[in-house]
Amino acid sequence: MKIAPSLLAADLLDLGGAVAVAEAGGADLLHVDVMDGHFVPNLSFGIPVVAALARRTRLPLDVHLMVSNPDTLLDAYVDAGAAWISVHWEAAPHLHRLVSHLRGRGVRAGVALNPATPVAVLEDVLPDLDYVVIMSVDPGWSGQSFQAGALAKAAKLRETIARRGLAVEIEMDGGIGPANVGAVARSGVDVAVAGSEVYRQADPAAAIRALRSRVEAAA
Ligand code: DX5
Ligand code: ZN
Repeated sequence: MKIAPSLLAADLLDLGGAVAVAEAGGADLLHVDVMDGHFVPNLSFGIPVVAALARRTRLPLDVHLMVSNPDTLLDAYVDAGAAWISVHWEAAPHLHRLVSHLRGRGVRAGVALNPATPVAVLEDVLPDLDYVVIMSVDPGWSGQSFQAGALAKAAKLRETIARRGLAVEIEMDGGIGPANVGAVARSGVDVAVAGSEVYRQADPAAAIRALRSRVEAAA
């Protein structure tokens, strides 16, 4: 399972340092939470921050767009250097067009589902996706408690992906730490996002390594 530290929980005055400890800890991706103060109440990073991060690291940037009207922003985030981009199903009525556009631009295309949104809504678009983000918290903030219902959603989606012979990856985002990362891996998740349980720890690089050893122990 890949581990994607979420910069939202980092010291925002030291994003360069946050990138360095993610690399030192062996992170696979860097998760960048973009919030617009509209789809979610909070505001976070935007296009210039993604561009600055891309200049600083070779880790793929996994940009999670928690914004209304994401279609108007896709090209700007691709140009800024995003390698993976997810949009929320709840914010994107024209998903097929949006996903085709992202893939046409050479970016991995994902769709995120809020905890209250069932995986069944993706039935028709699933073959067109590179990944699905199952939210295990309501989007908007780091540091919230894990919603355990996400595990059953992931397992159900994993079964659907296998039955249909698809290559879609499953990412899980929110409230993931040493106590539950083993269960997350066993539910069929390919990418675990972790914010507070990496960046609010005394040694974030060691925290990433600790998550990985929990995953290996759970295998
Ligand atoms: C929540 C964000 C998450 C968040 C995760 O809206 O999408 O990526 O940063 O933070 P933790 O791991 O602290 O829940
Ligand atoms: Zn996120």
